[in-house]
Amino acid sequence: MKFTHTFGAALVAALLATACGKKEEAAPVAAAPAPAAAPAPARTSVEVLHYWTSGGEAKSAAELKAMLEAKGHEWKDFAVAGGGGDNAMTVLKSRAVSGNPPTAAQVKGPAIQEWANEGMLASIDNVAQAEKWDELLPKVVADVMKSNGNYVAAPVNVHRVNWMWANPEVLKQAGVAAMPKTWDEFFVAADKIKKSGNVALAHGGQNWQDFTVFESVVLGVGGPEFYTNALVKLDPAAIASPTMTKALTTFRKLKGYTDSASTGRDWNMTTAMVIGGKAGFQFMGDWAKGEFTAAGQKPGEGFLCAAAPGTANAYTFNVDSFIMFKLKDEAAQKAQGDLASAILSTEFQEVFNQNKGSIPVRLGHDMAKFDDCAKLSATDFVETAKSGGLVPSIAHGMAVEPAKAGAIQDAVTQFWNDDKLSVAEAQKRIAAAAK
Ligand code: GAL
Repeated sequence: MKFTHTFGAALVAALLATACGKKEEAAPVAAAPAPAAAPAPARTSVEVLHYWTSGGEAKSAAELKAMLEAKGHEWKDFAVAGGGGDNAMTVLKSRAVSGNPPTAAQVKGPAIQEWANEGMLASIDNVAQAEKWDELLPKVVADVMKSNGNYVAAPVNVHRVNWMWANPEVLKQAGVAAMPKTWDEFFVAADKIKKSGNVALAHGGQNWQDFTVFESVVLGVGGPEFYTNALVKLDPAAIASPTMTKALTTFRKLKGYTDSASTGRDWNMTTAMVIGGKAGFQFMGDWAKGEFTAAGQKPGEGFLCAAAPGTANAYTFNVDSFIMFKLKDEAAQKAQGDLASAILSTEFQEVFNQNKGSIPVRLGHDMAKFDDCAKLSATDFVETAKSGGLVPSIAHGMAVEPAKAGAIQDAVTQFWNDDKLSVAEAQKRIAAAAK
């Protein structure tokens, strides 16, 4: 989301109007009746924009709703469908420009700074300091949540993006004995699955899903250092390098293993193909595990999880978070603090992340009740933070400011969709988008 000057100015004007205006004109009241018992405090309506609309996601969002309502507030659901959140961000911008932002919104990564730089965010530093978030959170996460040293966003989880999901029955039928660890092994397995009559790779042909697969291929082919140079630092030499040529060639080869109905399919309908035994593999972040969980499946039985080929020593992180908008109403400000506190609570972190497929964002959270995929993710998160294998997901808005990430995403999707586009031309377009 690039704030053009007019958009920025409109936002500031809208915000000033909100901050100074009366949110609701008080209705004229009749002469006060004889004093009765003190009325119960009004429940503050907390409108929350998010894009968690799939089965697993909706169950997770319901946990947050329940926790906020237990604190005496009313959750006003502002769910905008569309995986990856592009639709939600478009709707959020229009609400903000009209001077009527929601109480809170699912916004993450560098986009948080853009909203903060427009002066639109409420500080939740009072909660963060009281609850010592700096000690609770990994520094790499805390830094993303702050603007000028103050917390302006509450982190919800840590998703790992570089996962490969599989249906063990489909693999067995095809004679695939183990989860592929390299891209060469992947294509051998995919050929066997194709020959056995199933779809080898379940893929949803939407730009953010293409980008999600692409970033795992770059990570697997080039490793975390190359990934960082090419897709975080946007180094032109890395983008033009033979390693990127190899990654794009590998990425294109995957297309031959997808099905003809892939274009436009939502990510969770794509996961359903693996759940239903129609497809062998899916490359997707671990919100996909939320779909297996919602379908009552357990890792090692109904599905398998493994790092995408070549990425076992790397971890593309994607941290969901909520920003709170500056609102005049003191009750709304209190509710925002309660929402932030609920999000970081141990009990919420436990139940939400078990449903969402992610791992708790609090350091040292006891993983005993989590499944083996989550335990592997938690271990790898710590290990890769030490080894340098922990990298921000560009496809999920953690690495590069939204407008530039979107332009690169479009170049990648053009390459995926247009078989006549050469690898060299794709590298040029990615480099141009990355400028
Ligand atoms: C990601 C988001 C996840 C999940 C996924 C699919 O960007 O961080 O929480 O919503 O998109 O929509």
